[in-house]
Amino acid sequence: MAADTAQSIEHPALKRPKVSDREPLHPGYLRVGEEVPPASSVDIKTVDIVDPEIWRQGKYWELLERLRNEDPIHFTPDSFVGPYWSITRYEDIMAIDTDHKRFSSSWEHGGITLGEPLEDFEMPMFIAMDEPRHSEQRKTVQPAVAPNMLKEYESLIRSRTQGLLDSLPVGEPFDWVDTVSVELTTMMLATLFDYPFERRRDLTRWSDVATNMNNPDICPGGEEQWKQEMMTCLTTFMGLFQERGAMDEKNDLISLLAHGEKTRNMTPMELLGNVILLIVGGNDTTRNSMTGSVYALNKFPSEYEKLKADHSLIPNMVSETIRWQTPLAFMRRTALEDVEMGGKTIHKGDQVAMWYVSGNRDERFWDRPNDYIIDRPNARRHISFGFGIHRCVGNRLAELQLQILWQEIMERFSHIEVLDEPSLTSGAFVKGYTWMPVICHPK
Ligand code: HEM
Repeated sequence: MAADTAQSIEHPALKRPKVSDREPLHPGYLRVGEEVPPASSVDIKTVDIVDPEIWRQGKYWELLERLRNEDPIHFTPDSFVGPYWSITRYEDIMAIDTDHKRFSSSWEHGGITLGEPLEDFEMPMFIAMDEPRHSEQRKTVQPAVAPNMLKEYESLIRSRTQGLLDSLPVGEPFDWVDTVSVELTTMMLATLFDYPFERRRDLTRWSDVATNMNNPDICPGGEEQWKQEMMTCLTTFMGLFQERGAMDEKNDLISLLAHGEKTRNMTPMELLGNVILLIVGGNDTTRNSMTGSVYALNKFPSEYEKLKADHSLIPNMVSETIRWQTPLAFMRRTALEDVEMGGKTIHKGDQVAMWYVSGNRDERFWDRPNDYIIDRPNARRHISFGFGIHRCVGNRLAELQLQILWQEIMERFSHIEVLDEPSLTSGAFVKGYTWMPVICHPK
């Protein structure tokens, strides 16, 4: 990482965006910039890993490693999201993710993120439903990301990627996150929804707001502003839903929802829930894998050299990036009955966090888990897409976008150099980047 380069060049793109101060969300949580205590100094019984500042500073690895080794089924009795269990080993996460009869995803029990949903603003979405409703609705949107559609999208994704890469200021610093990762994923989302292309950044905004109610840099007006912006999203999509419902069915996500037998009579809040699911699902995750790939190759230069020597490694490198990055750090489940695990009893009604980010670094499963190895033989066995019946519906699309991005990068640039340590997202759910300055060197 060329942090010294960043200091020696004066350029607006190298100015790290400020993070505003905020009240800690819970007694004992850190203020912005306050040092995270070393993991070795913490009493394991008191570990609470959802303080957003731990994530913004990237100081969770050692805490997760301690949990895996010393208390793999860990209970936190008091946190800003209430009491919750942390599951940190690969095999235990798989066991829970595949046990949907005893571990619910349903919003009626609290959904897939920790904490209780707002009582007066429930947004049912199919990721947060149990059987049979989940599968009925999932089947409705699946055609939009089926293999025949991916074939259709491929040339469009490629030409848009080429256009964007060709427009980059070669040899000059710029922010990779906003210029490339956000822009490419937003373009893809606009295509999937057949959303007015010139207004595509609406989608980015709603995605950012949806997961950042507590983050004053994104949602300074807190809950009120959050609700208002969600309502704007709802009104916009209600209009599109009605319009598409009155037309012949097409393959975009709104048309599929408007015509689907199990979705055409959705309540407005259910429509909002599913739209937000698809926006967040398709946006933050792929965006942070795009940034993560450039960052990882810079952190592991010998892997970058490997890739330059053999472009056929791109598909496996993409899987390894998604493992190494783990763009969604966890998914929550709620126990529907008492369950014994590792000598502990998870009680009916308890919240359970499956820390994919930890399972993807579990030394019991992975060889050299913290290293980024682009020809890792079992890279595809990562759990970043989840595992059970809710396994990511857009996984092939995400892989395709990343593969095309890297094929086109290799055609154009000898190297993409990261100029400074990136800024990280604040919060334990979406694990990613808000800023990363780079220079693209021509071939
Ligand atoms: C579900 C991760 C890309 C749409 C999920 C889940 C995870 C995930 C962890 C939940 C699994 C569970 O609860 O067991 C990712 C990652 C991506 C990505 C890491 C990129 C690297 C996408 C894209 C789309 C998408 C591009 C949109 C087309 C969805 C949807 C679900 C989902 C709709 C809900 C599936 C269900 O409940 O059956 N994803 N995702 N995701 N994802 Fe993705």
